[in-house]
Amino acid sequence: MNIKYLSTPIYYPNSTPHVGHLYSTLIADIWKKAAQLLDKKAFISTGLDEHGQKVALAAVARGYSPQEHVDYLSQIFIAFFQNYEITWDKWVRTTDNEHIQAVKHFWKILYDNGYIYKGNYAGWYSISDETYILQKPEGENPNIVWQEEECYYFKLSAFGDKLKEYYAQHPNLIYPQKRYNEVLGFLNQGVKDFVISRPKERLYWGIEVPGDSDHVVYVWVDALVNYLSAIGYPDQKYQNYWPGVHILGKDILKFHAIYWPAMLMAANLPLMQKMIVHGWWLKNDVKISKSLGNADDLDILAQKYQVDGLRYFLIKNIAIGEDGQFQEDTIRSVVYGDLANKFGNIFLRILGIIELAFGGKLPLDAIIFKPGDSAILDEKVSRMKNMLNQILDSPEIVHEYTNLFLECVVEINNYFQNNKIWENKNKQELGGQLYYLMNAYKKITILIYPIMPRVSLEVMNFFGWENASISYYDKALNLEFLGKKPKFFPKSQDESAE
Ligand code: MSP
Repeated sequence: MNIKYLSTPIYYPNSTPHVGHLYSTLIADIWKKAAQLLDKKAFISTGLDEHGQKVALAAVARGYSPQEHVDYLSQIFIAFFQNYEITWDKWVRTTDNEHIQAVKHFWKILYDNGYIYKGNYAGWYSISDETYILQKPEGENPNIVWQEEECYYFKLSAFGDKLKEYYAQHPNLIYPQKRYNEVLGFLNQGVKDFVISRPKERLYWGIEVPGDSDHVVYVWVDALVNYLSAIGYPDQKYQNYWPGVHILGKDILKFHAIYWPAMLMAANLPLMQKMIVHGWWLKNDVKISKSLGNADDLDILAQKYQVDGLRYFLIKNIAIGEDGQFQEDTIRSVVYGDLANKFGNIFLRILGIIELAFGGKLPLDAIIFKPGDSAILDEKVSRMKNMLNQILDSPEIVHEYTNLFLECVVEINNYFQNNKIWENKNKQELGGQLYYLMNAYKKITILIYPIMPRVSLEVMNFFGWENASISYYDKALNLEFLGKKPKFFPKSQDESAE
């Protein structure tokens, strides 16, 4: 049995979630909903990276023990994601016992295979990035501290050539290409062994190194193993899912594209199928982060623009891999321009004519009368349907998919305008045209379910169906359009309908 598996990074619960965390998990959720729509099995994991100095310090600052702190934040992150209609198959917490056991097992395999050895380290350490750094930045910075300590190393140097060879044979392992090139650049500079433990006396908040209670496992090694523990590793059932696809932000590329594949090679495990590397959401050109205090209150935006509106904006506004500006005026113009004034408005206009000309009930021959369909609309709708299938193997196309959705909406509008539907006095032809429009609308509204689940369901309910399923794509519509009108998106006065 081979179940498709997609993972997101696991987030540091050092403070509350923001749009950067939402973004990765939303892409995973869209992929999962696409699979659901097609009735295909798919598994997503997301969750929290709960160990390490950064989290321990955040707990101290709040006056809690690390465990109390992460228990609390786990609830906050769960509620946050649920608020955006996101669901998952596995909520990872690295303090869970199964994960801890998986990390110990993985460590022992690397050790037994001869890729872990004991040594010493002296150098600068960045607490916020949980990593040693080669050079101390200018000026005083309490986040950068000098460390001299006994430690365990991972023999990364044994994998430099193997990784190069693997990447040469797998040119599509990383999306987009520019990140693949970046990884080749890292590899060409040469890779050195790296430290994979921390002394317990300095950092007790971690998983104990098997057989040496003076050390804990480096938080990044602990975290990367989540991609296996989430699917049951070391129990053999993980093989039903592995290898999977990883979604990650560009700042954590090296960990995923160099360290993690080398660790997998060291454990004799297959490498991941693919890595999809997204960019950053920025505010005035600066990465949004809680520590910089430039993150918007998303709940307020979700109230104004609806959950579906925000989901749509995040996917429509930037291609996966690019950075995007997260500004309210852009959100407003996308939600009003695309959704209220085009997608919502055309539905109400079609419905308005059905009510006006036919009292809300189309005649029977509306289904069979061919009113002169729009080849361009038909082509775009069926292309969108084909793309839905492709999302399962290439989740990075969700942006293009959403663009195509809007193109379909525009074509429905064009058909309405070009045929001057509101003036047509030929009832038979008009009935056929209205049915044709509603049917196209139905198709794209089913297809947009992964991105806008609420509005999609609302429209399906209007048509008399309980869920959004691809099985309705070719199903005839009930001719009575009398259901409860979907609410759609807030209409704006300032951005007039086309
Ligand atoms: N815990 C590690 C990941 C371990 S995965 C085995 C970590 N956590 S994080 O909370 O700092 O970041 C998690 C993810 O959120 C990263 O992919 C990062 O790129 C993403 N984002 C954080 N801020 C972001 C934006 N402003 N925009 C988009 N994504 C960004 O790193």
